[in-house]
Amino acid sequence: MQLALNFLALQALVASAVSAASLHTRQTNRVANDTTPVASISPSDPFPTNVGYPGTRKYGPPPFLAVTDRKEGQLSTSIDTRWTPIDAEPSCDFNIFEHLGNESPYFSSPIFSSFQQSHSVLPEGCTVEQVHILHRHGSRYPTSSTTEGAPYFGAVIANVSRLTNPSSNFSASGPLSFLNSWKYELGAEVLNAVGAQQLFDSGVHHYYQYGKLYNETHKPVIRTTSQQRILDSARYWTLGFFGWDAPSKYNLEIILEGGDGLGTAGAFNNTLASYDTCNNSDTITVGDTYLRPTWDAIYLPKPRDRLQQYVSGLELTNEMVYGMQSLCAYETVALGYSNFCGLFTKDEWEGFEYDLDLQFNGDYGIMSPNGKAQGIGWVNEFLDRLENATWNAATITTENSTLDSNPTYFPLNQSMYVDFTHDDIIVSVLTALNYTQVVGDFLDPTYADPSRTFVLSHITPFAARLVFEVVSCKGKRYVRTKLNEAVIPYSGAEGCPAGKALCPIESFVGFQKENAYKDANFNKACFGVNGTDFTVTGPVRNGTVY
Ligand SMILES: *[C@@H]1O[C@H](CO)[C@@H](O)[C@H](O)[C@H]1NC(C)=O
Ligand SMILES: *[C@@H]1O[C@H](CO)[C@@H](O)[C@H](O)[C@H]1NC(C)=O
Ligand SMILES: *[C@@H]1O[C@H](CO)[C@@H](O)[C@H](O)[C@H]1NC(C)=O
Ligand SMILES: *[C@@H]1O[C@H](CO)[C@@H](O)[C@H](O)[C@H]1NC(C)=O
Ligand SMILES: *[C@@H]1O[C@H](CO)[C@@H](O)[C@H](O)[C@H]1NC(C)=O
Ligand SMILES: *[C@@H]1O[C@H](CO)[C@@H](O)[C@H](O)[C@H]1NC(C)=O
Ligand SMILES: *[C@@H]1O[C@H](CO)[C@@H](O)[C@H](O)[C@H]1NC(C)=O
Ligand SMILES: *[C@@H]1O[C@H](CO)[C@@H](O)[C@H](O)[C@H]1NC(C)=O
Ligand SMILES: *[C@@H]1O[C@H](CO)[C@@H](O)[C@H](O)[C@H]1NC(C)=O
Ligand SMILES: *[C@@H]1O[C@H](CO)[C@@H](O)[C@H](O)[C@H]1NC(C)=O
Ligand SMILES: *[C@@H]1O[C@H](CO)[C@@H](O)[C@H](O)[C@H]1NC(C)=O
Ligand SMILES: *[C@@H]1O[C@H](CO)[C@@H](O)[C@H](O)[C@H]1NC(C)=O
Repeated sequence: MQLALNFLALQALVASAVSAASLHTRQTNRVANDTTPVASISPSDPFPTNVGYPGTRKYGPPPFLAVTDRKEGQLSTSIDTRWTPIDAEPSCDFNIFEHLGNESPYFSSPIFSSFQQSHSVLPEGCTVEQVHILHRHGSRYPTSSTTEGAPYFGAVIANVSRLTNPSSNFSASGPLSFLNSWKYELGAEVLNAVGAQQLFDSGVHHYYQYGKLYNETHKPVIRTTSQQRILDSARYWTLGFFGWDAPSKYNLEIILEGGDGLGTAGAFNNTLASYDTCNNSDTITVGDTYLRPTWDAIYLPKPRDRLQQYVSGLELTNEMVYGMQSLCAYETVALGYSNFCGLFTKDEWEGFEYDLDLQFNGDYGIMSPNGKAQGIGWVNEFLDRLENATWNAATITTENSTLDSNPTYFPLNQSMYVDFTHDDIIVSVLTALNYTQVVGDFLDPTYADPSRTFVLSHITPFAARLVFEVVSCKGKRYVRTKLNEAVIPYSGAEGCPAGKALCPIESFVGFQKENAYKDANFNKACFGVNGTDFTVTGPVRNGTVY
């Protein structure tokens, strides 16, 4: 859905509607440096919006598509995604921007497409009485790490470019000639304008889906992390859902995100950013350690060799070519246009997409020894919310006990719950719930099976949303699951009747209460020592260690 939206007007609206003191508007070419005093929750200010811990915030230069767009023809969208693979036939409908994994701008998921035909409409006599939405932030800048991907290629070119070093013998020609005058100009971490638009659109979309569930006499608590792009995503979504006076219609709970390693200073328990207190999540990474190196060595040499003929004074590597593909994704959402999108074949874009599938399945999913552990915190909270049951300290994982034991911050009986989070959390939650029909593929790092279901582009594009509806039909209650608008058929592996869209709520809750916490094996998976408590030498099959 594209919404005709005057973006500057929306931006001004947010600035005036949200009285937050923290910096959140786009800034040009600077690293944000917040000197605002930070507030903590207190009885006099139960929902402060200037809580600090925004993470890295670097804003890049503004776009100028009126000048920089070199494609003929009318542009009807905010950003130019009209590129096709270099080997595309004129009739080819391959959309590169739907194959960029978690770097794909939002689109509705095509998974289980034939199931949608007969299951997208609720049976007669049923209604939705409650909704639980777990929402990813929108399109953003890349991270600031220059060890990989887009920023890495930026650093490579900065080293050899004649713009910075007139005596360099670097030169590029043909499809790469733009590199002679190119430099890396992206910010880091924060939302792009089109990312804000995705969230606003999603708020509007969900207003049409669930507007009736909002009761203004019960202001819902909506949760986000403190990281700037997540916080801003919550703000834009609620503007779309509630309108310009959104901040007066709900309470925004900002859960601190930051730090690294349970027990270290500034590392917060946060189910929406659980990796910070799951120690092994950083070090035992199957996707990055075992899977991607194998696949990248298979799919990248061909484009590397082809592109090398257009470059002298720089020997291209696989990592550089990967960075160029990633630049297509990130430059487009930051600047509206990227010449890097015109350099690759269909197979090469599918190769890039598969790299991201391997990364996420191996680092956060069913092939990761701590995949379930990284999702179980939110699952614990979700089950409490489904049952209106107070939070259980005995099964704590990544929850913050101070917040979850307090009804102000962990309210029950809400008819709508909305939480803003990261891509990997959505994958880990599906893994912890054992939705193996979506995340269960055991991926081969030497072969991208075109019939696999685990395609990250379909699971966590920017602004992805995982939605659980509590459906009531003639006195009986069910859970229906939607991922990016696609209704998910149950498989049996999550305790629900195979092939159905509606799961009796007692089966759903009963199965998950019995299995999810136990199977995540949180303490061992997050804090066990490899080689002593378990041994990981490659992918696992069940998203945990035993
Ligand atoms: C932020 O501001 C402080 C105080 O003015 C200064 O010492 C620090 O270097 C600044 N940091 C950045 C990243 O600009
Ligand atoms: C840039 O050049 C410096 C100095 O030769 C080198 O240490 C660094 O690794 C180079 N960076 C990249 C990304 O190539
Ligand atoms: C220029 O290219 C030659 C080989 O073509 C290379 O040996 C040399 O190091 C390059 N000089 C610079 C400054 O990069
Ligand atoms: C909203 O909640 C109030 C108080 O519980 C209730 O009386 C009212 O019927 C509700 N309104 C709607 C539209 O559900
Ligand atoms: C988690 O990692 C931090 C930082 O390395 C360390 O201080 C802490 O003891 C670890 N926690 C556990 C339970 O292993
Ligand atoms: C829990 O949340 C409270 C309130 O934001 C915060 O002060 C505290 O540091 C958090 N504790 C942990 C371990 O994250
Ligand atoms: C944070 O989580 C750990 C378990 O991972 C728990 O031991 C600790 O009590 C939690 N802290 C808070 C404030 O919830
Ligand atoms: C939720 O509602 C049920 C009845 O519908 C009630 O018994 C329970 O006390 C409520 N819980 C909270 C936390 O309001
Ligand atoms: C929990 O509260 C919601 C909202 O009041 C209500 O619709 C639902 O029936 C309650 N669920 C249970 C298990 O009590
Ligand atoms: C989770 O799914 C896998 C694969 O479908 C299945 O083998 C396993 O039994 C399921 N877990 C439970 C607790 O049923
Ligand atoms: C885990 O330990 C084994 C045995 O010591 C070692 O071979 C393997 O590389 C380790 N795995 C990781 C992910 O560190
Ligand atoms: C682990 O996965 C395998 C293969 O899918 C399955 O046969 C086995 O039952 C699983 N084990 C557990 C404890 O879920």
